[in-house]
Amino acid sequence: MNKGNNDISLSIPIVGEEEKAALREVIDSGWLSMGTKVQEFESAFAALHSQKNAVALSSCTAALHAILRAFDIGPGDEVLVPAVTFVATANAVLYVGATPVFIDIEDCQQPLLSLDDAAAKCSPKTKAVIVMHYGGYAVDVLQWRNFCDRQGIRLIEDAAHAPGVSGIGRLSDASAFSFFANKNMSTAEGGMVLSPDEKTLSAIRRLRGHGMTSDTIVRHLGHAYSYDVTMLGFNYRLDELRAAVGLVQLQHLPMWNRKRNKLAQAYRQKLAARVPSIIVPFDEGHKTSAHLMPLLLPENCRRKGVMDTLRRSGIQSSIHYPPVHLFSHYRKLFPDIALPKSEEFCRRELSLPLHPALEEIDVDRVTNCLQKALEVESGR
Ligand SMILES: Cc1ncc(COP(=O)(O)O)c(C=O)c1O
Repeated sequence: MNKGNNDISLSIPIVGEEEKAALREVIDSGWLSMGTKVQEFESAFAALHSQKNAVALSSCTAALHAILRAFDIGPGDEVLVPAVTFVATANAVLYVGATPVFIDIEDCQQPLLSLDDAAAKCSPKTKAVIVMHYGGYAVDVLQWRNFCDRQGIRLIEDAAHAPGVSGIGRLSDASAFSFFANKNMSTAEGGMVLSPDEKTLSAIRRLRGHGMTSDTIVRHLGHAYSYDVTMLGFNYRLDELRAAVGLVQLQHLPMWNRKRNKLAQAYRQKLAARVPSIIVPFDEGHKTSAHLMPLLLPENCRRKGVMDTLRRSGIQSSIHYPPVHLFSHYRKLFPDIALPKSEEFCRRELSLPLHPALEEIDVDRVTNCLQKALEVESGR
């Protein structure tokens, strides 16, 4: 199950002999920095999402930053972002000197960006919206595409939680994926950009490599002998070792996503039977990579007490997320923001373990323990 003991972790990277063999092959090849494995990984990732091309980067954060740069978003511009997300979504906006404008969620059952709130907060300065597929649960991208077309702004997907979900990465101007260790597929650290627009992809390719007109591999192969620098770029490259691991992981991703969905379904059924006072966000059947297993504890319940009880039974749990606008750094920058629905969601949210190495018997144990923890906490 996990760690060789009886503990149930929130998530674990699933890596083994295939990844070791892929790493050995790269090491034996003598070429470690960005090269043909990265290109192979990009093509395979693009194909899985029905796209022609993709650009691999060192992280999803780098991907979001590069996307905003490629769209020439900067000081004086505003970008609509969720607060129920990892801080990187909003940080990327600050990196380019633009202003993140936080949008509330629909409600606790549907903790995705509210179109109404987005419409209300759009201004002549708004240049883009970054939607985030929370927990892998797909945002209605077509609705957002129509909204952005009406407003004349860019649509960017933070798809860190949602690799391999059909329809994601196709209708937006660009989408960013993460291969961090706790994600549905991992290269330890890593990211990817998809865009249907070849010009966007080529700008991001250049931004990732110091703004240079040719890569080391291109010069090594004799296709170029020197280079120009045409923009202020970064070192956001992925390397061959990570790409080789990514290629192996990608092959398993569809099967892992299916297993996650099956486990999420089992959680829903057991939670409904055992702890009906809990809200499980999203409707059954909502398209998802089931990256997270989020739930909402009852109003009066002490979340820390529940987490402590779970931990004492060897079950890890977490919070996704503390709302970004309430972090000290953001409060200093934007002191007056109130997002009542996001704040309520984040106050009551608890994430249970979910990864493909779990079995239904683990779901049974977690939900049993949660039931007991809730009885204790409600009786206080
Ligand atoms: C929603 C979201 N966006 C962005 C990121 C940043 O990803 P990375 O760690 O690959 O930079 C994460 C990572 O946890 C995330 O969950």
